[in-house]
Amino acid sequence: MNNFEFQNPTKVVFGKGSIAKLSELMYKGEKIMMTYGGGSIKKNGVYDQVMKALKGFSVIEFGGIEPNPDYDTLMKAVEICRKEGVGMLLAVGGGSVIDGTKLIAAAVDFKGDPWNDILVKGAEPGEVLPLASVLTMPATGSEMNCNAVISRRATKEKFAMGHPKYYPVFSILDPEVVYSIPKKQRANGLTDSFIHVFEQYLTDDINAKIQDRWAEGVFKTIVEIAPDVMADKPSYDACANYMWSATCALNFFICPGVNQDWSTHMIGHELTALCGLDHGVTLAIVLPGTMSVMREAKMKKLEMFCKNVWGVDAKGDEAVNVAIQKSESFFNSLGIKTRLSDYGIGEDVVNEIVRRFRERGAKLGEHGIVTPDKVEAILRDRL
Ligand code: NZQ
Ligand code: ZN
Repeated sequence: MNNFEFQNPTKVVFGKGSIAKLSELMYKGEKIMMTYGGGSIKKNGVYDQVMKALKGFSVIEFGGIEPNPDYDTLMKAVEICRKEGVGMLLAVGGGSVIDGTKLIAAAVDFKGDPWNDILVKGAEPGEVLPLASVLTMPATGSEMNCNAVISRRATKEKFAMGHPKYYPVFSILDPEVVYSIPKKQRANGLTDSFIHVFEQYLTDDINAKIQDRWAEGVFKTIVEIAPDVMADKPSYDACANYMWSATCALNFFICPGVNQDWSTHMIGHELTALCGLDHGVTLAIVLPGTMSVMREAKMKKLEMFCKNVWGVDAKGDEAVNVAIQKSESFFNSLGIKTRLSDYGIGEDVVNEIVRRFRERGAKLGEHGIVTPDKVEAILRDRL
């Protein structure tokens, strides 16, 4: 196991009815900006619960943050925060709203150009406004991590940022919000969570047993609860286990001291930026290619995945085939197709993605071995 330091400062308040606790948790005396997305919170009662809990606080609202939050929209919120003297942010939404709010929090006092400096070059933020969240869509783990991914439609780009200052102060996780999530988005959330575990597990076997067993526990839980989560009327328990699985897939519990390979995500972000595909869908397309093309480097973990998650004692290429087949059938069972051609995407997009990675001199993966040539092989495998 590698040396590590671990600290996750986000307080989680989990369970039915917990949105009401906002009144105790929000900082008193600060002007609050409440951010949200396209309006689902106004239909499912979450908005009313939040506003009731915030009675007596000074709140301004900023709605309209898109799925794959757009940089230009977020900069409008930054202007309002500066003008109004906002002192705390409350994101009410899924990963897009929470991520977008992290950028707003970082940009309000930032002196440079947030896009070029923070997102493209990964600069240190200055003062970051405190932010909290009410999660409405289990998927990204953003509610309990310090990462964000921001899109820029004007240039068809999508970049990630991460810094300990971006952890939410607290996040409220009420599993009852899952009832109103459309099935397509529940499928995306299960897939995204499953593949978050992969990015931290499908690396070298460095004898990090606790992390591996936790990761396998999250894999198995997601597979077990998926049919109930996808039902017309999912049970509360399925929603609760789904919500906590998604958080635990990317709140850094499973990754201290292990190597990580986020190349499936990095390639997936390009597919969203260029073709507008949902984040979870891009990952389901790319992951089987990563397993196939990078099989030599990942063989031990692929064998471990087959044995401990699926109970199949396969070795070598057979393990690769079993891992790919089991994963693809899981995504298909959720209604997600896993080939580029299923979405009308062809060679021109593959060539553009490879060109972008070459231009950036990209060396992805835990040892920088996912080169642009490998990215090309991964994507060609998925045509
Ligand atoms: O816009 P609203 O009205 O909120 O509707 C959303 C949106 O249309 C809807 N939705 C959310 N909760 C709902 C609901 N509809 C009904 N009932 C509810 N309770 O679902 C749609 C998708 O929401 P979105 O927030 O975009 O989904 P998700 O949570 O999957 O977030 C995706 C974004 O997160 C980034 C992705 O790249 C993408 O931009 N990621 C962030 C990560 C992180 N911060 O660590 C890691 C991930 O790998 C990912 O890259
Ligand atoms: Zn993801």
